[in-house]
Amino acid sequence: METKLVKIHQIEESQEEIEEAAQLIRRGEVVAFPTETVYGLGGNGWKQDAVRKIYEAKGRPSDNPLILHICDMEMIGELAKEVPESAKKAMEHFWPGPMTVILKKSDKVPGCVTGGLDTVAVRMPSDETARELIRRSGVPIAAPSANTSGRPSPTKAEHVWEDLNGKIPMILDGGAVKVGVESTIIDFTVEPPVILRPGRITKKALEDVIGCPSEMNTSMKETDGGVPKAPGMKYKHYAPKARMILVLGSSREKVTEKINELVSEARSRGQRTGVMATDESEAYYQADEVVSVGTRKNMETVMANLYDVLRGFDGRGVEIIYSEGFEGEPLEEAVMNRLVKAAGHEIIRV
Ligand code: TXA
Ligand code: MG
Repeated sequence: METKLVKIHQIEESQEEIEEAAQLIRRGEVVAFPTETVYGLGGNGWKQDAVRKIYEAKGRPSDNPLILHICDMEMIGELAKEVPESAKKAMEHFWPGPMTVILKKSDKVPGCVTGGLDTVAVRMPSDETARELIRRSGVPIAAPSANTSGRPSPTKAEHVWEDLNGKIPMILDGGAVKVGVESTIIDFTVEPPVILRPGRITKKALEDVIGCPSEMNTSMKETDGGVPKAPGMKYKHYAPKARMILVLGSSREKVTEKINELVSEARSRGQRTGVMATDESEAYYQADEVVSVGTRKNMETVMANLYDVLRGFDGRGVEIIYSEGFEGEPLEEAVMNRLVKAAGHEIIRV
């Protein structure tokens, strides 16, 4: 299949392109589109056939449910059986934006979207192209991140192209995303609400808005009768092709020293090495590829660059990556959640 890559500049000037994408969605085809978090691979959320195409293109296990994307509050009525008060507060405050809510699903939502669960994940993205696409399609758009299953999520249209060229008819290219990691997922079917995946919206920000405590459960150990809370959490995720090792320590000096030691050992084994550093530390490393992921003074830069940097190492043939960690920093939870998974839980503490 030929994949059409279409640039979106100003929303007003891109109506034709977005309409073409919306037509594909209405017809049951799938389209990749930008959101503020990561690029999504969208299909008509009412159509089983469209949902099947999403799973196929990504190579994703079909028991891993999808998020339904909406463009206005009216759409929620068709998707959810009930919306608890705390969820309403969060939605009013954080939508449109990088938050996904888990609610009891309505009978209308097909089981193939929810992986057979009786709950549904819903998000209203703030990206204008995304919202215009949903509006023109006239249906909730089921969309996972537009990467091949297991690879880092796409934060640029080029990343989608790398993974899905030839497998889908169209990619809307809205440039680099703003946030860079996937939405915060909050389960509002339980009291207190539980954060299943950390993101740009933090636990503290959530609690300030809903006015009551929440819990965080991003592990796959604490489960309900052996069923992981967010089924996606049980799969290997966000991983570059190279092996990655996360080095944590009480001081920057110790971490730098340890990483340099590990790099020189790897090089003596003949491996091509990479270091994921920060603006503050990049000058101190000796490796084949040293890349700064952003500045510790603004953790949003780290979030925004994370997946691009991980993919970049693959592109330059790095075989082993050593990364600094981010402990005690704002947005630590969201960033570390991805790093720990990218490293397949290989962590060294100094
Ligand atoms: O930022 C995002 O959320 C992006 C953009 C495209 O919106 N989407 C995204 O989708 O990250 P995906 O499919 O890559 O991740 C969705 C996660 C998975 O871990 C899935 O298991 C979980 O949401 N999920 C979906 N429905 C659920 C449900 N009913 N209960 C619990 N977890 C659910
Ligand atoms: Mg994903």
